[in-house]
Amino acid sequence: MKKLIAYFLTTIICYYGHAQSVMDSAIISVIPQPVSVSTQNGYYLLTPQAAGISADKNAADVADFLSCLLHHNYGYFLSGQSGKAFSSSVNTKAGIELKINKIENTTIGDEGYTLKVTPEKIILSANKPKGLFYGIQTLMQLLPPKDNSDEHTQRIQFKIPCVDITDYPRFGYRGMMLDVSRHFFSKEFIKKYIDEMAKYKFNVFHWHLTDDQGWRIEIKGLPELTKVGAWRVPRTGKWDTFQMPQSGEEATDGGYYTQADIQEIVKYAKQRYIDVLPEIDVPAHSLALIASYPDLSCTQQQYDVSPQYVPDSIDDVLCVANDSTWLILDKIFTQVAQLFPYKYIHTGGDEANRKFWMKDPKDIALMQKEGIATPAELQSYFEKKLEKLIVSKGKRMIGWDEILEGGLAPEATVMSWRGMKGGIEAAKMGHEVIMTPIMETYLSRKQGDASVEPFGPGLLRLSTCYQFEPVPEGVNPKFILGGQASTWTEKIPNYRHLEYMTWPRAMAIAEVVWSPKSTRNWNNFAHRVEQQFKYLDADSVKYSQSMYDPITTAVKGADDSMKIKITTEMPGLTLYYTFDGTDPDNFYPEYKGVPLDIPKGASEIRVIAYKDGRVISRQMNHSLEELRKSLKTK
Ligand code: ACM
Repeated sequence: MKKLIAYFLTTIICYYGHAQSVMDSAIISVIPQPVSVSTQNGYYLLTPQAAGISADKNAADVADFLSCLLHHNYGYFLSGQSGKAFSSSVNTKAGIELKINKIENTTIGDEGYTLKVTPEKIILSANKPKGLFYGIQTLMQLLPPKDNSDEHTQRIQFKIPCVDITDYPRFGYRGMMLDVSRHFFSKEFIKKYIDEMAKYKFNVFHWHLTDDQGWRIEIKGLPELTKVGAWRVPRTGKWDTFQMPQSGEEATDGGYYTQADIQEIVKYAKQRYIDVLPEIDVPAHSLALIASYPDLSCTQQQYDVSPQYVPDSIDDVLCVANDSTWLILDKIFTQVAQLFPYKYIHTGGDEANRKFWMKDPKDIALMQKEGIATPAELQSYFEKKLEKLIVSKGKRMIGWDEILEGGLAPEATVMSWRGMKGGIEAAKMGHEVIMTPIMETYLSRKQGDASVEPFGPGLLRLSTCYQFEPVPEGVNPKFILGGQASTWTEKIPNYRHLEYMTWPRAMAIAEVVWSPKSTRNWNNFAHRVEQQFKYLDADSVKYSQSMYDPITTAVKGADDSMKIKITTEMPGLTLYYTFDGTDPDNFYPEYKGVPLDIPKGASEIRVIAYKDGRVISRQMNHSLEELRKSLKTK
């Protein structure tokens, strides 16, 4: 106690020992864009002395969260009055009020909030603490980025612009998926990921826990899963070129989460109003499970966990007719259901190599007995039986859109990834759908030109993410629970790179699933993203600036000759180019929006983008021969 008093005394002395600096708050650049924002003249001056928090009793945890954020970001020690005593009680002026509405505001629902900043006070109101939590995320974006200077403690004051915000989400499911099988990410990294999700109002962390390359969840009574299934031989470099395990080679690369780790993460996520959706991917993508317990596959061969994509010759699929399959699934899902309070469990179902079933006498006999005509129908039989198991544990089943093939299980929710088609079909059958189409939401894809981006599959630019529309035409929106950004990590070997692949594209998905469709505006969003970069910098989060890179394409001129068109995702950039093999800067010719003729003898074009007189992009070098080829294949 003595120590605590001394600490606060020191803190108070610090207040008055330094002149306080006043910082203008950031312009309003909130992501996701709130439903309605009206700004007024004036500001609320947030100071360490005047910024107490008062909170209704059931908002105490959220108030505590805000108090911790203000302390962590700016060194504030806020006092408060609520059912729960948070921080010290140095002052009780309560410049920030957190209120639970006594009379429900029916416009904003359970997750919405209203935020009113006046010169006298900041008042945040919601029907539920969850809504207050999202209001806090908005409030934090009205403040400047975290101050990392040594001197920051207790000295900074902020002018928060007077504003009236009403806000609520478009969708109830706002997810981010992370594959921790292809590369394992530690518990600490998972928490960091969840922290970043919370800032952009995501509310489901879809945790892809198992696959051919590693089993990541401790299941009591099945020790081989974490002794064998969680480890593979180490490989570094280009994923597509890795060698399969050699005889006698030790499996040292991997890891897993203990049940205590999982409970800790689930609790951590819950404090941030994020549900954790566990995925146990079956019947395929199950090599790590099969390597641990070989009697589960049709061939019953002893395989190793794979450091690579699984060749077609390897049987990574559970045998449907094996009793052992159902015994182990029951054990696994009993524990998964107990560990994760969320009402759904994701059971995978994608990309099953069904050919092994067709060679297996037990599966063939099962098909004959049940009148099953095709391998797809056998998978449907598997999914329906699995759904009964999941329901018996008090949960609902989600599966990838392949579970539609051969007949959908009666209550299943479909996660549509091979485009929107599966989702449309499921919604038309009256099933719940989550949209995560590969071409708009897979953050594992490259976010810019292959010549400058790290190794990865396909292309998904930030602006394409922003065009994602979860409700297809002709589909009743009530069946679309929401959308998700999904990140597969084959080519993402470390956390820094995961951040690079995630941000800012996840911001685009956040806005798609939270904000009204009618307010979507790319140019406005792109400028807000620029402001958000400052927050990511302050939080040491890596991100991509690919949105500044010039996009060089070949087009056909009226006379059929090839011309060069240069565009940018980001509005307002100035482009300079060269055809002579030298590096352009702002003394070189400027691209004026009219496709360029190619000078005789030129073999490449180099382009760079400037903003406000300074270089903003990477230099893009393109061989004209390659561009010519791309024109031919168009
Ligand atoms: C998937 O991308 N295989 C769901």
